[in-house]
Order: sequence, then structure tokens, then C-alpha cells
Amino acid sequence: MEKTRILVTGGTGYIGSHTVVELINAGYEPIIIDNLSNSNIDVLEGIKAITGVAPIFENIDCKDYTSLDRFFEKYPDIKAIINFAASKAVGESVEKPLLYYRNNLLSLINLVELMRKYKIDNFVFSSSCTVYGQADELPVTENTPIKPATSPYGSTKQMSETILSDSVNAYPNMKCILLRYFNPIGAHPSAEIGELPNGIPNNLLPYVTQTAAGIRERLRVFGNDYDTPDGSCIRDYINVVDLAKAHVNAVQRLVEQKNKKSIEIFNLGTGRGVSVLEIIRTFEKATGVNVPYEIAPRRDGDITQVWADSSLANTELGWKAETSLEETLLSAWNWEMRLKEKREAASK
Ligand code: WQD
Repeated sequence: MEKTRILVTGGTGYIGSHTVVELINAGYEPIIIDNLSNSNIDVLEGIKAITGVAPIFENIDCKDYTSLDRFFEKYPDIKAIINFAASKAVGESVEKPLLYYRNNLLSLINLVELMRKYKIDNFVFSSSCTVYGQADELPVTENTPIKPATSPYGSTKQMSETILSDSVNAYPNMKCILLRYFNPIGAHPSAEIGELPNGIPNNLLPYVTQTAAGIRERLRVFGNDYDTPDGSCIRDYINVVDLAKAHVNAVQRLVEQKNKKSIEIFNLGTGRGVSVLEIIRTFEKATGVNVPYEIAPRRDGDITQVWADSSLANTELGWKAETSLEETLLSAWNWEMRLKEKREAASK
């Protein structure tokens, strides 16, 4: 029987690649397009090593309307799109706002226009808890008021959600699910795929694993004078494989027309807030590896604390984060060790 084809833009990226694996496991045929601006084509080997399937891959930039149009001509039977293709470094977005607006918004607008042209109804969007800013009340629900973004990256996520909401209202048959991720961490348990930060990591976990591996001298904890139990910031860290599985549930909901509204929003988190210092302690306990760190000044733009109420995703998507923090941190460490093996093999 023909498998249902799902387009995964940004599918060689961190969350995209883990989602491709789970789509294959669920019996779908994911097709990846990616411009490889922030990922590596070797990811395809990792996906094949895990699933036995080498997904179709096209090196396309979603900002290039003509190439994207040709893609849809070539693959007319796509049933849904999951859009990961976007720039995502908060700090970089402050330095290069136009790069973020052009990349994240033009890519999205091209995709929505071509969905209409090729009569594709189903769209899953990679959004972020960053749209909430520092919420007044915690945990955050999907009805928590949106606050003015604190970075161009955050603005592009808010604007993207508005573009999709207006598009769904204007274009009959279009159905959309916005997935607001909290903090994705960890790697596939096989250590065949994981996070591949370019250069010095912005995010906490890759910096922790690179420090533990001796690549970085020490971790800077950006502030321990916040109004939290141990003074360091609190986030809701979600296992990347658990997060990937939520995308399969979202695609199923749309393809099987189980959605209750033309646009639905779901928070994807564990419901548990964890501090930076707790992450360090838990990582050391889970791996037995020491993480040298120092307390550094606060980082501009950081909010004090956020964690999710994901009960809507639990009930409507039939999804729940299941992997423990310890297991997730260990998977991140195993992936860092695998990267070290790959680097050493490449240098021989
Ligand atoms: C987490 C905590 C830092 C690095 C952002 C985006 C979100 C998503 C993930 C893209 C904070 C602290 C970090 C370090 C530290 N975007 N930290 N030392 O800022 O919560 O979320 O990235 O995927 O949309 O908003 O994630 O991992 O950068 O920081 O102390 O070297 O770790 O201050 O409290 P953040 P993060």
C-alpha cells in the first residue's frame, strides 16, 4: 500500500531529523527538504542506520519560490507539511534581524502559497514557548497571554503564528497545528542522530556536554541571583524523541481529520521546571562526569522561569512526555561521545 507522504522542511536539523525517524516508525513516507545552512547531510546516514530507510532528500531553500514550486510539481501527492525550516538562535537574531525575518517569514509564506496551489490542506508548524515571554502565571497554558517578543527570533515565531491564523481564516480546507516547544534536549538513544550546534553552542545542553567532554573549559551559568529556589533560571526541558513523537500525532490528527478547529495550538513540555544548576547536578549524577562551571553575569533577554501545562496535548493529541530527565541527559552525553569518535575517525 502507498505510504502517506509528509514533507518535512528543515528535516536534516535537530528536531526535524528526530521527527523523520518517528514518521518512518509510524509508517509514513517523510520527504526532506533542507538548505543545509544549519545542518549536515550526514544526518541522512544516521536516519538510515536507525530506520533502515534513506528518506528522499532535496537540497532546497524554502526562500526560493521557483525551486519550491518545482519540488511540489515533482511530488504531487504530499498529504501534510511539517515546517521546521527556520533560523533559531536568539542571540544571532538580535544581531541579524533581517536575516531572521527574511528566512523565517518568507519561507513560511512561500510554503502556504504553494500549499494552496497544490491543494495540500495540512500544516504543522514548529513554534516555541518563547512567544509567551515571561508569563505572569505558571505553568503556561495555550491561553496564557502572548507578550511582546524579546528577540527578533521570538517575533518571527509570533508573526508566523499570525500568518497561519490569518491564512486558515482566508483559505478554506487549510488546517493547521501550532506546536509550542519548551526546551528540546537530548538525542536519539541509538546515538546515530542528535544536536549539531554550529560553532560555540548558544543553548545550555550542548554547552554542558562539550564542557564535560573537555571541548569547552567551563560552563558559564548566566546568573544565580534570579528569584528562583537556587537562583538560576528555570526551564521545561523536553526530550527530543518525545517531542518528535508529538509531531506524528499532530500529522495523524490532521490527515485523519480529527482536528476540532481549523487551527489548534499545543504546548509541548514535561510540566516540570528545572533550574540550570539542577541540570548540571543531574547530568553529573546520570553520567558520572564532572561539569566545571562558574557563575557569570545574567544573559540579556533571559526570562526567569517557564514551564508548560501540556494537558491539552495529553488529551487532544494523545501525547505525553515520557522520558526521564536523567535518561535524556545521558542520551545527550552518549551523542557527544559519538561525535568525538566520529571526529577521531575522520582525523585518522
Ligand atoms: C536555557 C537556560 C540560560 C547557556 C531558547 C529559545 C527557545 C529555543 C531554545 C530554539 C537559560 C542558561 C544557557 C549557557 C547558561 N530556541 N544558559 N549557560 O534561552 O531558554 O530558549 O533556546 O531552539 O525558543 O528561546 O534556551 O538553552 O539558551 O538557555 O546558563 O552557556 O540556560 O541562561 O536560563 P532558552 P538556552
